[in-house]
Amino acid sequence: MRGIRKTLASQRQEPITLSTMSTTPIRVAVTGAAGQISYSLLFRIASGAMFGPEQPVILQMIEVPFEKPMKALEGVAMELEDCAFPLLKGMVVTGDAKIGFKDANWCLLVGAKPRGPGMERADLLKDNGKIFIEQGQIIDAVAADNARVAVVGNPANTNCMIAASQAKRLTPDRFTAMVRLDQNRAQAQLANKAGVDLTEVESIFIYGNHSPTMFPSFAHAKIGGKPAMEVITDTEWLKGPFCETVGKRGAAIIAARGASSAASAANALVDHVHDLMIPGKIHSVAVKSNGAYGFDPEVWAGMPVKTTAPGAYEVISGFEMCDFCKSKIASTNKELVEERDAVKSMLG
Ligand code: NAD
Ligand code: LMR
Repeated sequence: MRGIRKTLASQRQEPITLSTMSTTPIRVAVTGAAGQISYSLLFRIASGAMFGPEQPVILQMIEVPFEKPMKALEGVAMELEDCAFPLLKGMVVTGDAKIGFKDANWCLLVGAKPRGPGMERADLLKDNGKIFIEQGQIIDAVAADNARVAVVGNPANTNCMIAASQAKRLTPDRFTAMVRLDQNRAQAQLANKAGVDLTEVESIFIYGNHSPTMFPSFAHAKIGGKPAMEVITDTEWLKGPFCETVGKRGAAIIAARGASSAASAANALVDHVHDLMIPGKIHSVAVKSNGAYGFDPEVWAGMPVKTTAPGAYEVISGFEMCDFCKSKIASTNKELVEERDAVKSMLG
């Protein structure tokens, strides 16, 4: 096998595609590429899990331009090379976001500080929010015309709003934040409670913020084709411990592991992007609400979307909301509005 050409920031700006395959590689820019999540994510992307087994990719890996993370990133690139992934057609290793986002088709914004024990994700806003000002501007200036952005760095919804607010060329619908980890968590909790295989749980969607206020809408979920509330008749469990377990799962993982979720977060991002590339998929994504489900029109809120074309989607707006659902949505919306107010000075 011929080696993968790797591009360093100080050398060439363009990775070279060595393959003779006719399929054009998708350029995937990933920030925080030497971090925990990326250590799972990059290998999944390169193996074909995100874009499918026929789609070549070029990884454009971005870190902060300091010696330690850049050296660590060099090591990650060496390991990627050592995997001999047939779909990996090039790598860019850079501390310069202008190089890393150049011509990117997907921009995966993972790089940001994780929270520690006792913190809420919103406590990260002051430190992390500013990262997304510059990245939003650079992506708008140099990414591909069809660029899509997925934000993972916390607090993801509001960071996504900050990045999108900087863009003049790319429209707000190109910017999505990840609530798929919450959907996956909710699916697993419902399957455990009902004592069924995970695949029997469908249509469980996440509304609102990626925070404890999020609403995993059990009211519309199906288990084995039946309404979940007919299968799990313990409504108090659904309204209480279920919502709480899903909403606070991130903190539970930090308490158990001493570090925030990484492999499951990477897996959720694979799902997020994968399902946004496949028309017909219905899944939870945080998008600019435009007023759907009573959310403030300017906030990024989790809700069910249907992929309409690769990278494009429409909000599924038809789910009826009971009084309990409406009150949950109102409280997660309130938090999103408060976060937006707290970062007013960061919005473009
Ligand atoms: P980590 O500390 O292991 O890695 C973060 C990496 O980002 C570091 O290597 C750091 O150098 C890099 N970085 C920081 N600023 C950067 C910038 N401006 N450009 C490029 N790289 C930059 O953290 P992690 O565990 O990988 O988590 C990353 C983020 O994802 C955190 O904010 C975490 O809270 C969040 N997260 C979100 C979800 C979700 O469901 N939305 C799930 C898990 C974690
Ligand atoms: C998660 O949900 O696991 C992540 O957002 C990390 C965190 O801070 O909880």
